[in-house]
Amino acid sequence: MGSGAMVYGNGFTKELGQRINEAQSLVDSDPLKAASDENFWEVVRSAYRVSDNLMNLNNGGVSPHPLIVEEALFNYHEICNSVPSFHMWRELDSNKDVLREQLSLLAGCASEEIAIQRNATEAIETIIFGLPLKKGDEVILTKQDYPNMINAWKQRAIRDKIKLVWLDFDFPIEDEQAIVARFAEAITPKTKLLHVTHVINWMGQILPVRALSQLAHENGAEILVDGAHSFAQFDFSLHDFDCDYFGTSLHKWLSAPFGTGMLFVKKNKIKKIFPLLASANPRSSKISKFEHSGTRSIPIEKAIGSAVYFHNKIGIERKEARLRHLKNSWAERVNHLPGVSVGTSLKDDYSCGIALLQIAGKEPVDIERRLLKEFGIHAIAINWHNIVGLRITPNVYTLKKDMDRLVSAIQTIAKT
Ligand SMILES: Cc1ncc(COP(=O)(O)O)c(C=O)c1O
Repeated sequence: MGSGAMVYGNGFTKELGQRINEAQSLVDSDPLKAASDENFWEVVRSAYRVSDNLMNLNNGGVSPHPLIVEEALFNYHEICNSVPSFHMWRELDSNKDVLREQLSLLAGCASEEIAIQRNATEAIETIIFGLPLKKGDEVILTKQDYPNMINAWKQRAIRDKIKLVWLDFDFPIEDEQAIVARFAEAITPKTKLLHVTHVINWMGQILPVRALSQLAHENGAEILVDGAHSFAQFDFSLHDFDCDYFGTSLHKWLSAPFGTGMLFVKKNKIKKIFPLLASANPRSSKISKFEHSGTRSIPIEKAIGSAVYFHNKIGIERKEARLRHLKNSWAERVNHLPGVSVGTSLKDDYSCGIALLQIAGKEPVDIERRLLKEFGIHAIAINWHNIVGLRITPNVYTLKKDMDRLVSAIQTIAKT
């Protein structure tokens, strides 16, 4: 069975599939018009297991997967669980190329440049620990990067005496040139790599990856992109970005099973990167050398194909437009309330679905607690290097009525 094949079990998702096809044929082909068509998004919502009593606005942490992915996962598990070494290893794990191909079409690169990983941490740390660097070499990164990556670079610095050059940003910034200029000022002849978080997870700022790739290459350096929050949230192509390395989770915006990730390595760079977990030929030019992680769940990996299928049913342009529409539908309405501000740019170039809520005089943890206790809304308090607020992250199953409920809760909390 190919990775992308749907594994229908009790027929429930088959009926759901038909409804999605029908909704797809009715929705406007213009993504901006489709973004506000609640009838279409109601059908998308019916494809998810949405909680009746807890509104999930922390999809930035990890996304639930739609029922068709859940069902594929269970079915693959059932197949494997009778004779795992035969069904799981010999049958299901025999051909990853189909999945690589599907992911490469989404990512805009060659399938030979895609490795399947267990999460973004594994993908990105493969580069952090596998890149040849020597004492004195410099890597530029920011204090607003993700903690796992910061820790990995610090460990590498202790081990190999490389120099970490830190930038400290005051986001939001609505000036691509200003961001690029900060990286440019930090470059020296010893700079080997720019570590760039594509979407700052704490508050949703998008960094200009294409311009930063160009900057790195003009200065004889490379770029590693942490795309945990960009992949499958909005439309871009790695080929177009011309980045050298890119790692992402698939259990965030692709809605793939928990514990899935992806690594992209530019074809001509694969050879020089040592795998994090050893393979027989660490100097191989084959991307599969990064996939030797021992026994792992093949059902989880196989069900990624169903997530790609579902994602393509919605379409990345429609998804991107919807996520922006949802963000704007709460952020624009609260931005003018006394004491309330949005700590994220609302311009398309600088954010998509994630934004930060700030209420003067109120601690984010208290806002988080009140939203949960009084309004049944789950969102996450942020306090990290110049970024303080409550991160609000809707998903494709979020409806306008959810955003209305959020806005009304914010109005109450801001007043009392
Ligand atoms: C920017 C960023 N990078 C990396 C990660 C790590 O992702 P994972 O849990 O898939 O390893 C996260 C997780 O939230 C993140 O936000």
